[in-house]
Amino acid sequence: MKGEKVQHQGVADVVSLRVTSEKDIIKARECARQVAFKIGFDSKDRTLIATAVSEICRNVIEHAERGEIMIESLQDDPCGIRIIVRDDGLGIENIDRAMRDGFSSGDGMGFGLPGTKRIMDKFKISSERGKGTEVIMAKWLQ
Ligand SMILES: Nc1ncnc2c1ncn2[C@@H]1O[C@H](COP(=O)(O)OP(=O)(O)OP(=O)(O)O)[C@@H](O)[C@H]1O
Ligand SMILES: [Mg+2]
Repeated sequence: MKGEKVQHQGVADVVSLRVTSEKDIIKARECARQVAFKIGFDSKDRTLIATAVSEICRNVIEHAERGEIMIESLQDDPCGIRIIVRDDGLGIENIDRAMRDGFSSGDGMGFGLPGTKRIMDKFKISSERGKGTEVIMAKWLQ
């Protein structure tokens, strides 16, 4: 899997990938699945993690054009996977509204953000109008 590998404290492995196209979403999804497998997530959780990655990366392409994803394997207590997705697009005007089931500023279903929050154990979104958006999410190995 292409991507830059860097080392951080408490983090066993980090893979960083750009997100600019549908192809990149597939790569990021596959990469997250592989990292999750190495950590020990079962197939159901691997699918949930891959779905979360797809939704958040698709948002980057649809609502911000381009961004990057970092996928980290956490070996400390708790053990798990952390995923950070950033873009420098237009940002989200109203995060509470964006997190509501069924809200979409486009013609989407509006389930990407709230659905992903339900899938993951940790989900934090921050955004500044005109500066971009950052999602930090994690799932712990049970
Ligand atoms: N990275 C982003 N940059 C700017 N706006 C965003 C970003 N991600 C989400 N949004 C805003 O939040 C809204 C809700 O996102 P969400 O993923 O829940 O729904 P959607 O993308 O519109 O539709 P769906 O994901 O169901 O196809 C979006 O319609 C968009 O306005
Ligand atoms: Mg979406």
